Amino acid sequence: MAKGVKWVQPDPKRKNWYWPTQEAKERAWISDPEVYEKAEADPEGFWEERAQELHWFKKWDKVYEEAPYEFKWFVGGKTNLSYNSLDRHIEAGNGDRVALIWEPEPTDQPGRVLTYSELLEEVSRLANALKEMGVGKGDRVGIYLPMIPEAVIAMQAVVRIGAVHSVVFSAFSAEALRDRMLDCGAKVLITADGYYRRGKPIALKPNADKALSGTQVEKVIVVQRSGSEVPMSMGRDVWYHDLVKDQPTECPAEEMDSEDLAFILYTSGTTGKPKGVMHTTGGYAVQAHTTCKWDFNLHEDDVHWCTADVGWITGHTYINYGPLLNGVATVVYEGTPDHPDYGRMWQVVEKHKVTVFYTAPTAIRMHVKWGEEWPAKYDLSTLRVLGTVGEPINEEAWLWYFKNIGGERCPIVDTWWQTETGATCVQSLPGIGPFVPTVAGRPFPGVRVAILDAGGQELPRGEGGYLVLKPPFPPALLRGLYGDPEKYKGTYFSEYGPGFYFTRDGARIDELGNVRITGRVDDVMNVAGHRLATAEVEDALTQHALVSEVAVVSKPDEVKGEVPIAFLLLKKGAQPSDDLKRELIKTVDAHIGPTARPAEIYFVEDVPKTRSGKIMRRVLKSLVRGEPLGDVATLRNPDSVEDLKRAVGYTG
Ligand code: WT7
Repeated sequence: MAKGVKWVQPDPKRKNWYWPTQEAKERAWISDPEVYEKAEADPEGFWEERAQELHWFKKWDKVYEEAPYEFKWFVGGKTNLSYNSLDRHIEAGNGDRVALIWEPEPTDQPGRVLTYSELLEEVSRLANALKEMGVGKGDRVGIYLPMIPEAVIAMQAVVRIGAVHSVVFSAFSAEALRDRMLDCGAKVLITADGYYRRGKPIALKPNADKALSGTQVEKVIVVQRSGSEVPMSMGRDVWYHDLVKDQPTECPAEEMDSEDLAFILYTSGTTGKPKGVMHTTGGYAVQAHTTCKWDFNLHEDDVHWCTADVGWITGHTYINYGPLLNGVATVVYEGTPDHPDYGRMWQVVEKHKVTVFYTAPTAIRMHVKWGEEWPAKYDLSTLRVLGTVGEPINEEAWLWYFKNIGGERCPIVDTWWQTETGATCVQSLPGIGPFVPTVAGRPFPGVRVAILDAGGQELPRGEGGYLVLKPPFPPALLRGLYGDPEKYKGTYFSEYGPGFYFTRDGARIDELGNVRITGRVDDVMNVAGHRLATAEVEDALTQHALVSEVAVVSKPDEVKGEVPIAFLLLKKGAQPSDDLKRELIKTVDAHIGPTARPAEIYFVEDVPKTRSGKIMRRVLKSLVRGEPLGDVATLRNPDSVEDLKRAVGYTG
């Protein structure tokens, strides 16, 4: 597409409001707002029409079916995510188009470019190897891989044969990996020797080794990436390249029922234990395909770069499935944004002529700090659409992104969604708009939302409350929590009953129907775009032998959005010290990973408690935020608050 085209223009009356230009509208898949009304009148019909763009081995008998706590899409239909991501394009004569562009972190190493035909061959080889290992339909396969092509290949190979992947973020600890492998009962794990971080090889395989004892994992496939020397366990471990070398490059895709499980992805809930979010095949494919196409206005010559990690849902849907279902090129970048310097991301945009760039507000805030001179060094005129996801974006970051990356030409599509929703649910479309800092936009066509008060009353426009999804539930919404149907009901449907999926986000809707997300209303934090429960960090810290009690709360942070702050009571005789703090950080690293490290650890004598002995996190939260503490007189130990004020330097 033409370079340097203006895709947006300012609203003459409203400051910082932007609308698509005529040119943008002409090139957009969707520019007539009628799409919203039509979909609202018949959401099932809307999604049915969308489903027809994909390949189905057998068409569905019924579009949607719902019973309390249960819903199905494209009932009786047979399809396959990998077939739709790869074979479909090759059959349409587009096998030579670029599917995957891999950019390694070290700038002196060669990258890799795979066409759709080449990617299918790689996927098929691994798929055949997995089958030979005895992996079949419904079997779970763990994936613990860095950002290398094999991460996408592995996910595609697993769903190709009807197995179920569970990807674990490669920066998660051995213990986090073990918990997830145990919970999903994976028999095979695909991992790598290591990867590159800030120019140095980092070993990964030793983590996998530590994680696997006591799990059901029987086979480990190891990709050679960093060349790190790693011990291989005879009979269990096999090198990826040895395994796939002699495998045939053809492997027919398994015909999956629309409601067959495609993958499990663990995410943080309000308790310490991560929950296995279950996504099925047909509905997920349809919503991933449609949202990626419409949100970013994808056409065949687009180069789509989503900077998330494949370990998160954003990576699943907008690095792997979404772009590939649309037949465009997807960029996989191995490294960090600051290596070899702060211009790395923009150098990659220039090098690969990226047209769609999708990242998180926390990343943008980091770039704001580093300065606009870095993007200014590179040609970013290929960019057409910018995206953001993961947390509410502040105005300063939005405007910086708009000006310095988008050249005031590109819309910013602020997409609201969750691991549970599988694909975006609220955002402005590039051909419709508006694009406004801190406002996500309208619900995607065919998605119904409402704002409820605590009692379940629907609130009028303009009033803040709780964001819920209404039936028909979006096709990609989770179907359950692995192995825990009760928790599924309790987490999402206990507040308002089976007719409302509770997002646990606060929001309000303006007069034009645009949704503004205000943030989580539960004990889930958003740390540099990573979702984390305060309870998880508490559980990790309690593992330390000298800790008797812990309370963790979140505090706003200029760059990371939020950071965990820990209040610790030590066991009798234990002395607070900086060494102990370092040990505690190590404990968190070992149990979760470095993303969960508390920004501050306070050793205290007591924490505020209710009369029934529950920790009043609300008071701690206000303390660290310097906000009014409210009524503390009813606490069992109101005196504790004075000590805490001194500890945190509270002057509020
Ligand atoms: C939570 C879900 C699925 C994308 C990655 C995060 C917050 C997500 C936005 C946005 C404001 C957002 C919500 C949500 N969130 N996108 N555009 N504006 N908040 O997935 O880790 O499952 O976290 O991220 O609080 O509930 P996740």
